[in-house]
Amino acid sequence: MTDASDAPGAPGPAARVAELRGLLEYHNHRYYVLDDPEITDAQYDALLRELQALEREHPELDDPNSPTRRVGGAPREGFEKRAHSLGMFSLDNGFSLDDWQAWVERLRRLEPDAELAFWADPKMDGLAVEVIYENGALTAALTRGDGETGEVVTANMRTVRNLPLTLRTAPGEAPPELLEVRGEVVIAKADFHALNQAQEEEGGKVFANPRNAAAGSLRQLDSRITAARPLRFLAYGVGLARWAGGARSAFERWATQGEAMAELERLGLGVPPRAGRCESPEAVAARYEEMAAARDELPFEIDGLVAKVDDLALQQALGFTARAPRWALALKFPPRQARTVLETIEIQVGRTGVLTPVAYLRPVSVGGVTVARATLHNEDEIRAKGVLVGDTVLVQRAGDVIPEVVGPVVEARTGAEREFVFPRECPVCRSAVVRLEGEVAWRCVNVSCPAVLRQGIVHFVSKAGLDIQGVGRKLVEQLVAQGMVQSPADLFALRPGVLAQMERMGVKSAENVVAAIARAREAASLEALIAALGIRHVGERTARTLAAAFTDLDALGRATVEDLTALDDIGPEVAGAIRAFFRNENNQRLLGRLREAGLWPVAAPRPEADPASQPLAGRTLLFTGALPVARGQAQALAEAAGARVVSAISKKVDWLVAGEKAGSKLDKAQTLGVAVTDYAGFLALLEGRGAQAPGGAGGPGAAQGSLLDIS
Ligand code: IVH
Repeated sequence: MTDASDAPGAPGPAARVAELRGLLEYHNHRYYVLDDPEITDAQYDALLRELQALEREHPELDDPNSPTRRVGGAPREGFEKRAHSLGMFSLDNGFSLDDWQAWVERLRRLEPDAELAFWADPKMDGLAVEVIYENGALTAALTRGDGETGEVVTANMRTVRNLPLTLRTAPGEAPPELLEVRGEVVIAKADFHALNQAQEEEGGKVFANPRNAAAGSLRQLDSRITAARPLRFLAYGVGLARWAGGARSAFERWATQGEAMAELERLGLGVPPRAGRCESPEAVAARYEEMAAARDELPFEIDGLVAKVDDLALQQALGFTARAPRWALALKFPPRQARTVLETIEIQVGRTGVLTPVAYLRPVSVGGVTVARATLHNEDEIRAKGVLVGDTVLVQRAGDVIPEVVGPVVEARTGAEREFVFPRECPVCRSAVVRLEGEVAWRCVNVSCPAVLRQGIVHFVSKAGLDIQGVGRKLVEQLVAQGMVQSPADLFALRPGVLAQMERMGVKSAENVVAAIARAREAASLEALIAALGIRHVGERTARTLAAAFTDLDALGRATVEDLTALDDIGPEVAGAIRAFFRNENNQRLLGRLREAGLWPVAAPRPEADPASQPLAGRTLLFTGALPVARGQAQALAEAAGARVVSAISKKVDWLVAGEKAGSKLDKAQTLGVAVTDYAGFLALLEGRGAQAPGGAGGPGAAQGSLLDIS
């Protein structure tokens, strides 16, 4: 691929946009489908940013299948429904090789002369989705629903990284006019565990298994949440398909299931791992055993093998029962469950202070792996499962090494079982624990809790905090392990002579470390310090908001929930977390020591908004449609006049500036009663004409210029 912008006579924006979209999709496929990237993440990001900038400047080049859309969009109110053009059937199940034999015999009775060869692929444990491509472009995606009608999840599916937004065709090759691809949306096991861990640390919902996580992630009304989840789409079949030039259907194009799958793969779709042709029923039986043995090694959860008659003509002849195809069988693996005794429950304190109950089990073999512990996630989970200490419980491994307590075997109770009382204090430091509204987790909010400490200090020095150069995780771990640092405040008391005694640390590097810490103290902004404290829910963005509103940590510490929730982007949950942080005595002690150490930044006073130069101070604007100037330029003008420019329409928007071909945002603004103006009206606002509060006396209707009357 060449970079045409180097060519003489650089291409117009439309050509460059098309080229960038092609490049990004190409590299996306190399990364997510082939697992073989050609460029670095930074190079990819640079291309993406260039495309984002061009799309901002040229809204007329908008395309729902642009790779920039993979980040998701504003929430929707509900999912529309749409009928599948061909019903999405279920599968008949078999649970053993005897079931397989019986099924094959039935097949032989139906088709005595056929030579039986099969396509075998793993039965992926996720949820079924149909993605529809028209002339090569993704136009819709539907869940299976009841098999007849599914929910339209197109925006969410566009965020699925390994799903091509445009089919990959050879140069000069016409894409199919219509291609309905069926497959499973899944989450890889490793991604599932990382997601659950993050959910647990955030106090959010933990998912019982990858399938629930995949389903929960796909059915989000806000596609930005879906975009943040590691979903994958693996294709296993085709619905309707049509090519130009005669009625070329799937059955005319491909002779076998295997050929169809190969073509899907060629068109850029991901397919299940280890799928392949089996020449006989016996070969399927062997493959079933192989697959069962390999189950733990596969990156995705599978719960069986699906054997499909490979010959598509034979599939067509066999047809369907009311529920399932006669040409396929899902051969399930035996469940991996065992009974054992839950001996005790202990509490672990994690990185963010979350208390996690862990079940200690009498060791038991589950599918060949000895299980002795399993997380119970949180207090609500213990209650929901209804387990008591001393219970006989059912334990399962849902396809990999991480075990799960399914629930108690109630009939095995003796009366000696006891309810687990979830502690109200941290088992490590004895501080009272808090459970914030909307969270399932109890949390130790004491930053000096030894268990929380180490990670807290790592965060404190990291880029997200004070960004102390040359002091990384390794050094912090060493310092904590040797008892030299127990709190972020101790960092400022470190002396080169003492540091130099440490392993792998010379005099010079010890001096460098101390100098770096001193420099960071001098340079620290209030914003950086607030972020460094690691207050729950207070990331860099909220820290910026807080630093703009309070002069120092004293002022912030005095703020009430009402003061805090009056600020942009701060809701009751975040305000509660901030209050809890400042109430904690250990945290108060830490702040006292930081002040003594000279780390006490005071926010620079904000420039007073001069009403003459900032006619839009405190106003929120949204641009839509094609404006006579670049979008970025209009935005800069608005911001210079004190306005906040947002990208989603809501009641909080004071003015919608609508250019040519404004679409859904304009409709929505009118529904919400948001004032609407065109570009000329916007210029009038900048000059302070018609800039009174919308809705107030002399509101939009009374303003000058060409403000539109929306009533
Ligand atoms: S073929 C006409 N192949 O299993 C039926 N299904 O129990 C076509 N599934 O709803 C289905 N992996 O979501 C097929 N390799 C695979 C599969 C698979 C998982 C799911 C699919 C279906 C369910 C039926």
